[in-house]
Amino acid sequence: MEKMYAYEPSAPSLTEVFSKYFKVGAAINSWNLEKDSREYAVLTKQFDVFTLENESKPEPTHPEPDRWVFDRVDRFAAFGEETGKTLRGHTLVWHGQCPMWFFFDENKQLVTEEVLISRMKDHIRTVVGRYKGKIAVWDVVNEVIRDEGGMRESLWYKIAGTNYIKEAFRTAREADPSARLIINDYNLESSDAKADTMAAFVREMIEDGVPVDGIGLQMHLNLFDTDMDKLRRNVRKFTALREIKPDLMLEVTELDMSCYLWADESTDVEWTDELHEQFSAKYTELFRFYVELAEEGVLDSVVFWGLDDGHSWLNGFPRRHKNYPLLIGRDFELKKAFFNVTGIVK
Ligand code: XIL
Repeated sequence: MEKMYAYEPSAPSLTEVFSKYFKVGAAINSWNLEKDSREYAVLTKQFDVFTLENESKPEPTHPEPDRWVFDRVDRFAAFGEETGKTLRGHTLVWHGQCPMWFFFDENKQLVTEEVLISRMKDHIRTVVGRYKGKIAVWDVVNEVIRDEGGMRESLWYKIAGTNYIKEAFRTAREADPSARLIINDYNLESSDAKADTMAAFVREMIEDGVPVDGIGLQMHLNLFDTDMDKLRRNVRKFTALREIKPDLMLEVTELDMSCYLWADESTDVEWTDELHEQFSAKYTELFRFYVELAEEGVLDSVVFWGLDDGHSWLNGFPRRHKNYPLLIGRDFELKKAFFNVTGIVK
């Protein structure tokens, strides 16, 4: 079969194919927004929701207490206004890519809960306020739960228990009452204990009147050890929360599917037809489940973590090896899996 490329006007578009079910998106970088580039053609054709892969995190935007760097996020916001695409803000509070000044005073001692929360509120008010009406969704907190269940013992948690999370949501709501506020995490489909903690914690927030609108499932999946029954079972723990909050939404926020197990030391795997078949079958099953969730009105969007295989972080993390985790290949060619996945919509 002749190759088809994601930027070609005649190629199928993920966003169009799934439009009656959910939005489809991708993580991008501000330098992908050059108008006459292939990247720009791909992203505008294929997707209708976008996340900045790194540039809106606290480390780049707020490197020092009195220094803010917004030029790249501004560019992203301008792109959203120009094109009418939906923008996601990622992320306000996280243990990763957060500058250390948040946690320490001038004597290098940990700050009190009061000081930490006031710094956090200042950060959230400034960032969410600046993009009010432009960034529609915020990953308010990211990865606050441990893989084994229980809350992650980050510096945030050590200083402020779970109060920082609740205050973060309240502050974001005040700063932009129309933004959708998400709690985002990984392995929610693969760790039963983590899913249980997430469901229990979101329940607690809802019961406390904390303004949480949805749960973000990162879904950094693996071709070999993703158990679909388990995935469905764990996701159902979250849809069950609609009994107490009927409008709670789910978003798939960072989808990809690595062809290396976590501990795999091998350099480049050979991307055989057989591997591609397995990959395609797993993605297809996954998207059938997404459609099922969308038909229940609970799934808002599915965002891939990267535009194409070549731009994926998985080529460098946790090790450097060539990876093939997305539906669009490194030449922007549509992979066989792309056609199988889009083929489920009749
Ligand atoms: C990753 C980026 O893709 C990398 O470029 C960066 O070096 C580290 O962060 N979960 C998240 C994302 O919430 O912010 C991470 O992004 C991937 C895992």
